[in-house]
Amino acid sequence: MPQIVDPNIERYAAEHTTAEPPELRSVADETRQKFESRAGMLTGKLEGAFLRTLVAITGARRVVEIGTFTGYSAMAMASALPPDGTLVTLEVSAEHAEVARRHIEASPWSNRIEIRMGPALDSLATLDGPFDLVFIDADKTNYRNYYEACLPKLAERGVIAIDNVLWGGAVLDPSDTSADTRAIAELNDALAVDERVECVMLTIRDGVSLIRRR
Ligand SMILES: C[S@@+](CC[C@H](N)C(=O)[O-])C[C@H]1O[C@@H](n2cnc3c(N)ncnc32)[C@H](O)[C@@H]1O
Repeated sequence: MPQIVDPNIERYAAEHTTAEPPELRSVADETRQKFESRAGMLTGKLEGAFLRTLVAITGARRVVEIGTFTGYSAMAMASALPPDGTLVTLEVSAEHAEVARRHIEASPWSNRIEIRMGPALDSLATLDGPFDLVFIDADKTNYRNYYEACLPKLAERGVIAIDNVLWGGAVLDPSDTSADTRAIAELNDALAVDERVECVMLTIRDGVSLIRRR
């Protein structure tokens, strides 16, 4: 997936962002070694700091994440929760969850994080709202379903953050007919005119849309 932001700008932004806690650096290092090209799924230092700030400034207490991978973003968000805050992160891959579980258990935030295994749509159906923050970052063809499942359970001042909305720039190419690209592009089009919400698309990393109820 090509970078949408000039790599020098991206590096400068990361360098001028507060250092990651050692627990996050450790999971990022293991992820890059173990998963190589798949490590591109990691949100990483810049977006992780953005998500942590989002939790802090919204005062979120109940967070749901769709797509755990190795736990980087879950730990980044949980680190800004109050001690009684909770984060449920949904994952289907036992291989990914094993790494996440190990790092989460070794972190100071383990009592705030629950990894729930299984297809995320099934897990979401069992979770009661209200959610203060939802981070959608799993299979792209289900993005619309995740959004529709979470919106009714969103707290009045809650926020849904959706990752990879620029998909390396592919969403700008109407001749790109891959299922992932079309799913993201169609959701982006729908969000811009969805009268239930206000949406702002940010060009952080691979694009993040923030959605709140009107
Ligand atoms: C982009 S990665 C998540 C990255 C993570 N948020 C981070 O920052 O490190 C997407 C994850 O979603 C998981 N996934 C894919 N389809 C899923 C599904 N239907 N239900 C739950 N998880 C799924 C994948 O196994 C993968 O670990």
